[in-house]
Amino acid sequence: MNFPDWLTYIQQRTETALHAVLPAATLAPVRLHEAMRYAVLGGGKRIRALLVHGTGGFLTHAGPEQLDHAACAVELTHAYSLIHDDLPCMDDDKLRRGKPTVHVEYDEATALLAGDALQTLAFQVLAEHPVSATASGQLETIQLLAQAAGSHGMAGGQASDIASAGCELTREELEFMHVRKTGALIRAAVLIGARAGEGTNDVRRQRLDLYAKRIGLLYQVVDDILDATSDTATLGKTAGKDASHNKPTYVSLLGLPEARRFAEDLLAEAHDALTHLGERASRLHELADFIAHRTS
Ligand code: IPE
Ligand code: IPE
Ligand code: MG
Ligand code: MG
Ligand code: MG
Repeated sequence: MNFPDWLTYIQQRTETALHAVLPAATLAPVRLHEAMRYAVLGGGKRIRALLVHGTGGFLTHAGPEQLDHAACAVELTHAYSLIHDDLPCMDDDKLRRGKPTVHVEYDEATALLAGDALQTLAFQVLAEHPVSATASGQLETIQLLAQAAGSHGMAGGQASDIASAGCELTREELEFMHVRKTGALIRAAVLIGARAGEGTNDVRRQRLDLYAKRIGLLYQVVDDILDATSDTATLGKTAGKDASHNKPTYVSLLGLPEARRFAEDLLAEAHDALTHLGERASRLHELADFIAHRTS
């Protein structure tokens, strides 16, 4: 299957799997369940799901359904993070995935609760569906997601982001923030994929981890560049908001040409990390290019 067809195939599988694990919108409390489905379904590039499948499908003996559940757990966590990231107390955004944000379409309390419930659902999925061939592998998967989402990962990075508005950060401080707020969950998607099924050996895992760290940081560097250079219709979210909110970014720190050069360096390092994995890593090479050169 060529890369564009595989992309569509995994995106469609993920949509179906997410549909199945989300509570029906007819179940009480209806407004909360509607908001959860509104936030998760029918949008998003599903990069994290693609990374789970791209790693697990070619490097472990995981079955596609196992990978679907692992991918759902990561995408549910991501969707929760977007709802909270858009709240007035965070980035105060009105548009997400080309639609009004959850607190605009519903209300702030519903948005807060939908985020809470999606995060819990992510762990419920991992508690109810075996994604690893062993109990210890399953526990490790839960641990990987918890570490990535928690105060040493995404939530911690978001705390740095909020604290840094209007401040000038050093390059080290900016990297600390980006590696956590976005990099941690992207990295977890790769490591969870590598842990699925029968898992893979330590040498491969170390290489995959290096790749995952590079594309995790790359993801947010590109997000910073797109915020500064693209438009709202293309992004499906308001362009130019980092500058208008005085957020320190790779563009504000380095300038656009240097930020772009840094992105290309990270991409090259991601490819290098996969060198010894051969053919099995071809989807991961393609995904790294996709992340670096995406337009939304
Ligand atoms: C946006 O993530 C927020 C960041 C972590 C940079 P994505 O660009 O993956 O958003 P969707 O899921 O495709 O909408
Ligand atoms: C979002 O970073 C990171 C998380 C959601 C955890 P941004 O605030 O830059 O993401 P966008 O630009 O709103 O998608
Ligand atoms: Mg933010
Ligand atoms: Mg934001
Ligand atoms: Mg952004």
